[in-house]
Amino acid sequence: METHDVPIEWDQDGLPHSVIFNDKYFCNLDAYEEVLSISCQGNVLKDRFSKLDPSVGGTFTIIETGFGTGLNFCCAWQLWDQCAPKSWTLHFVSIELYPLSVQQLNRALSLWPVLSRYREALVLQYKPLPQETAQLFLADHRVRLTLVFEDVVEALRQIKERGITPDGADAWFLSGFAPAKNPKMWSEQVFEGMAPLSRQGTTFATFTVAGPVRRGLAANGFVVHKGFGYKKHIITGYFHGKDAS
Ligand SMILES: C[S@@+](CC[C@H](N)C(=O)[O-])C[C@H]1O[C@@H](n2cnc3c(N)ncnc32)[C@H](O)[C@@H]1O
Repeated sequence: METHDVPIEWDQDGLPHSVIFNDKYFCNLDAYEEVLSISCQGNVLKDRFSKLDPSVGGTFTIIETGFGTGLNFCCAWQLWDQCAPKSWTLHFVSIELYPLSVQQLNRALSLWPVLSRYREALVLQYKPLPQETAQLFLADHRVRLTLVFEDVVEALRQIKERGITPDGADAWFLSGFAPAKNPKMWSEQVFEGMAPLSRQGTTFATFTVAGPVRRGLAANGFVVHKGFGYKKHIITGYFHGKDAS
């Protein structure tokens, strides 16, 4: 299937801006630190990766809403490389309705030389195929990336029905554009779709503290905390089940 560039404008710092949503993929060039602090630290990933038992092996699963440029993915992969035992696999499942072309993805990720080896490995395999699911095996199969190129609500349903992650998620990266500009990514149906893919202790982290997001997560079994990550307020929390609030 042929794929096209999504409409993007590049600002003077070289940062991508979505024409469809009139919003930035990242606020500024500090986005790498921001991802480490919000998505990774917000989900306590360094600690959790380091404590995985090397003698048993297994799979740690992250589900992300909004793959975008793959920056969140590359940051998680880098941390995995640094902290997780070799006997474990990182399964990163990410949902994206408007996939960037490989050239756009490469250009955006080139902003962060610290991630160059991850970017290079990713672009070799990345192939955006709208309405399909792609499976990428990276780092000698220590990292598996499943890309679901669908609308978020349909994608969450597919992940469940097709058993893409039989044990659900260990952590969620909620990464749509700002809720006011991208309401579908933060709709009630999204939070409803997350619950059956979560279990006791599944964590989430996101940059937005919008009231409807906090209430939507709480109504679907997540305990929600307001916190502070890379110079801004964030929300983090964990799944507790329907009696959570
Ligand atoms: C802020 S960007 C994500 C940034 C990304 N996590 C990264 O590391 O680059 C939000 C993404 O959500 C995607 N998106 C917006 N609405 C969507 C929908 N209804 N379903 C699936 N993806 C959607 C956009 O195309 C965009 O790539």
